[in-house]
Amino acid sequence: MRVLLTGGAGFIGGHVLAELLRRNHEVRVLDSLRPDVHPTPSAWTVPAGVEALIGDVRDAAILDRAVAGVDAVVHLAAKVGLGVAIGDMPDYASSNEVGTAELLVAMARAGVSRLTLASSMVVYGEGFGHCAEHGRVRPAPRLESALVQQRFEPPCPLCGQPLENLLVAEDTPFDPRNAYATSKAAQEFYAANWARSTGGTVATMRYHNVYGPGMPRDTPYAGVASIFTSALRRGAAPRVFEDGRQRRDFVHVRDVASATVAACEGQTTGVAAYNVGSGTPRTVGDMAEALSRALNGPPPVVTGQYRLGDVRHITADSSRLRNRFDWRPRIGFAEGMAELAHLDPASPGAMVRLP
Ligand code: UD1
Repeated sequence: MRVLLTGGAGFIGGHVLAELLRRNHEVRVLDSLRPDVHPTPSAWTVPAGVEALIGDVRDAAILDRAVAGVDAVVHLAAKVGLGVAIGDMPDYASSNEVGTAELLVAMARAGVSRLTLASSMVVYGEGFGHCAEHGRVRPAPRLESALVQQRFEPPCPLCGQPLENLLVAEDTPFDPRNAYATSKAAQEFYAANWARSTGGTVATMRYHNVYGPGMPRDTPYAGVASIFTSALRRGAAPRVFEDGRQRRDFVHVRDVASATVAACEGQTTGVAAYNVGSGTPRTVGDMAEALSRALNGPPPVVTGQYRLGDVRHITADSSRLRNRFDWRPRIGFAEGMAELAHLDPASPGAMVRLP
């Protein structure tokens, strides 16, 4: 297929680009090389055979060039992170919501009907828990008064008893709890609206915590695996927030790339969402220990600090993706963390394996 990949110069985008090329697709990349993600834009090298357009998805003129003649669009270009400051709200709304709306309109103008969209597990908020008395319940946002007292587990909102964490499926109602999550939920709704009025096809990829070669480092948008690796390389202990028992599903970026391309190829009709995870949740404390061991560094320090916007556990059921597209994650936790620990931090450009 001829595929337009937006955000192809980014962390996940670079791996999706490599996977598209490996599977013999013809790729055009549109990326704005935004300065908060690409402080040295000249560091991005365009792989041979790829047409690159440098521009913003909010720019209708460049979008018309970008979508011309393509069979499908993979839309990864976005402002990522968690909304570190309230002042970031307009940028999330503009970059992610307006950007997606403009892209969808350009696709409609050009008659392009297939979209694969990057979303996130954060659209589910705290997900659902199981209360011994009340069954399946949605935990309320955690209160600062509880976090200060180091009470990190969100209780049953009805009786205050502890909850057992449940894996969320794709039909779980949204509960976005920060500006980034809200913008991802909005992108999904815009795409569904577009599909209904144009007959288009959408596969939405709700990514778990993605890690691996090329992860953003030393920026406010760096994920925890990258923050811990950078600390260990300086000889410092990883600083684990809360009590370290918060769970995430850390999924390797090459597995995320293969899932995204499988959905781009395989979703030929309708609108569907897919959770993208390894299927094996881990605690943040476990991850810190794995990285400390791999780098022979100091053991992690559990600090009891917290970030108000954080949810406690994010763990989803990714079986729909496995069943529909016969996708399997290939890179295990220990292998992936060891690879991350031993990458050469001085050569980020060499981290994506091109075919
Ligand atoms: C991450 C992504 C988000 C994505 C979501 C999907 C980043 C920055 N955020 O959010 O874009 O939509 O996964 O599931 O990649 N922590 C520490 N020490 C630190 C920093 C963080 O212990 O120095 C803890 C946090 O309190 C949290 C956990 O690590 O409990 C994960 O944090 P983070 O990597 O920022 O990711 P998420 O908030 O899960």
